[in-house]
Amino acid sequence: MLVHAITTDATYEFASDVRAGLTREGQKQLPCKYLYDDVGSALFEVISHLPEYGLTRADERLLRRYSHEIVDLLAGPVAVAELGSGSGRKTRWLLEALCRRQRTFYYPVEISRLALAKCERELGDIDSISIVGFEREYLDGLLEVAAQRKAGQHLLVLFLGSTIGNFDRLAGVKFLAEVRQILESGDSLLLGTDLEKSNTQLLHAYDDELGVTAAFDLNLLVRINRELDADFDLGQFAHQAKISQDGRCVEMHLRSLQRQTVTIPAAEIVVDFLQGETIWTESSHKYSADEIFLTARDAGFRCDAQWIDEQWPFAESLLIAE
Ligand code: AVI
Repeated sequence: MLVHAITTDATYEFASDVRAGLTREGQKQLPCKYLYDDVGSALFEVISHLPEYGLTRADERLLRRYSHEIVDLLAGPVAVAELGSGSGRKTRWLLEALCRRQRTFYYPVEISRLALAKCERELGDIDSISIVGFEREYLDGLLEVAAQRKAGQHLLVLFLGSTIGNFDRLAGVKFLAEVRQILESGDSLLLGTDLEKSNTQLLHAYDDELGVTAAFDLNLLVRINRELDADFDLGQFAHQAKISQDGRCVEMHLRSLQRQTVTIPAAEIVVDFLQGETIWTESSHKYSADEIFLTARDAGFRCDAQWIDEQWPFAESLLIAE
């Protein structure tokens, strides 16, 4: 696999985001993308196997069951770009269905080099596939993929696993509109979205009995200690999952168990925490099936088809760029 590697100074950007998030007025916050270093990505992989967390299995079930139907709805020769491919496991069904019809270029876009390598190992054996990975942020990578488009070729963008749920609702529409800007009319976007479910089910999914999600969340502090030389005492923070006031989002927080001060030399800050104060580390928005049609329209797409998993409410929606 050819990989276009990233060259920016990632540690500098991490330090400046940590500084901004922990010194802002009011609620302390850290961007959820930093949960995914190598350890965080491995822990997320474990989360996807937990009995309490059905999201990834629902996504995979739908793709396994409906890939042929999805591919039949796509016009013309198609190249596939996947935003946040992870290991690529759930993409196999779709790529196999497409490769039975045509030689297929598959462009995974990922900030993790390790995930790109796994993706190649997982999918490289499919007949008639060429994989070109982009180690980039989503939109930067998609721009480069679009630049490689051949005349008459359509693009299918995959945005699976309900990553859209990790954007605030408005930011989600804005992101999809930016994707739309890069596409041409008639291109498509397959969007995986976790749907609303009971508070009890959500709280168990984001605070599992084994403590894997807690470790996934706390690993962010371990990462700050390791990469920015900080002195977070892990025993003095606890993972907490809570439901937002409107009931449509699960939030992950790291709660300070006592009044304490943390020094983060590489970010040039000293941060005070009150007892009970939290760092907000992730939001996971849950959608209604109908809302996805409206979100698509607001971003410049029409939703042509939708498949829903009944076991764990989750939707795969095929959006066409208008
Ligand atoms: C990647 N993302 C869709 C997951 C989610 O459900 O929001 C991340 C996750 N956080 C805790 N568990 C899983």
